Amino acid sequence: MRAELLVHDLSVLYTLSGADPEDLGRHEHWSVGFAEGALVYLGPAAHAPDADEVLDGEGLVGLPGLVDPHTHAVWAGSRAAEFRRRLAGVPYAQILEEGGGILHTVAATRAASRDALTEAARARVRRLVRRGVTTVEIKSGYGLDPATEERLLRCAWDLQDTVRVVPTFLGAHTVPAEHRARRAAYVRELVEVQIPRCAPLADFIDVYCDRGAFSLDEAVEILRAGRAAGLRIKAHAEQVTHTGIAAAAAALGATSCEHLEHIDSAGIAALAAAGTVAVLLPGAQLYLRDRAPPVAALREAGVPIAIGTDLNPGSSPLHDPLAAATLACVLQGLTVEEAIRGLTVHAAAAVGRPGLGRLQVGGTADLAVFAPPAGEPPGVDALVQHLGGADAVIVIRDGARVH
Ligand code: NIG
Ligand code: FE
Repeated sequence: MRAELLVHDLSVLYTLSGADPEDLGRHEHWSVGFAEGALVYLGPAAHAPDADEVLDGEGLVGLPGLVDPHTHAVWAGSRAAEFRRRLAGVPYAQILEEGGGILHTVAATRAASRDALTEAARARVRRLVRRGVTTVEIKSGYGLDPATEERLLRCAWDLQDTVRVVPTFLGAHTVPAEHRARRAAYVRELVEVQIPRCAPLADFIDVYCDRGAFSLDEAVEILRAGRAAGLRIKAHAEQVTHTGIAAAAAALGATSCEHLEHIDSAGIAALAAAGTVAVLLPGAQLYLRDRAPPVAALREAGVPIAIGTDLNPGSSPLHDPLAAATLACVLQGLTVEEAIRGLTVHAAAAVGRPGLGRLQVGGTADLAVFAPPAGEPPGVDALVQHLGGADAVIVIRDGARVH
């Protein structure tokens, strides 16, 4: 056997291919070989095949390509002024109810061309790739009209040359300004116009059920319509207030429920019963100074936990999944092992692609290689401990080097 590309003799490699949650599949002095877009060798460096190109892994840490399971990466405009207001104590939900927040971004996004939106999003996504990401879930949701929602999903598709994209339709991000006095008409438009038009462009439907956004009944109607159109289900659930959407979405078969700062025991039991993944977004918790989700109870119930950046211009302008993992440990109480699973296997489950987030011969040929922070030993402990301290030095997607 001969490989085209070999990442050779990594000081530490984590395959994440076992079932034991405590065991990240840690190996010292292993190599990973790629040929024709496939992962063809995974094993001791001493037995590695010859290769056309060899990258030296000495001193470096290998992980499966990271999966960011929750972003709003396609937007126009700036919310830096809103950041000042929030620092001065104005609540996020109040700013949204006054027509700012998400609605501010919607106005700027509607005015932007597809090219301008795509290029700004591409710069953001490239940054994620440089932080070890090979798969990104990208939501629409700053259009809130049929044409702009479709445009945002087409932008997400345009980024498939930069990263593997999982597109999600989030026309139910909030009620747009022109429909605020007649919310029912907007729900009708979602069900009758936006979902049929956007479903062919997305894998998932998502809804933001909260104060300032959609009620539980509205959210359930929207998710049902999305499911009937062939989409799988996600929900922005129990973020700022408790609504009951986590239990309702789980009962509808949701793949994931996200945020969960205010989930209750009934919601947790419903996630566990349905096998729904909890996607934690510690960036939003940090920026909104919210409380932590009940991680101990989620763990106890056996709910799989993933971590996302929630990259967006308002509640979570966070561009680094490993930093999200650090925050998930420090602010939310995850262990290092849970954090690494949250960026890999569980994030893959959250985007409905269980083949991602693990390394195995014949599996997805994605690898992220990190240099530990200066002076630190190679291993996940220091990668997660240092906030933004480790650089991805090699990123491989589908067997090709992308960074
Ligand atoms: O995940 N909570 C609703 N949606 C986003 C916020 C997006 C924004 O603030 O623009 C979130 O936090
Ligand atoms: Fe979000």
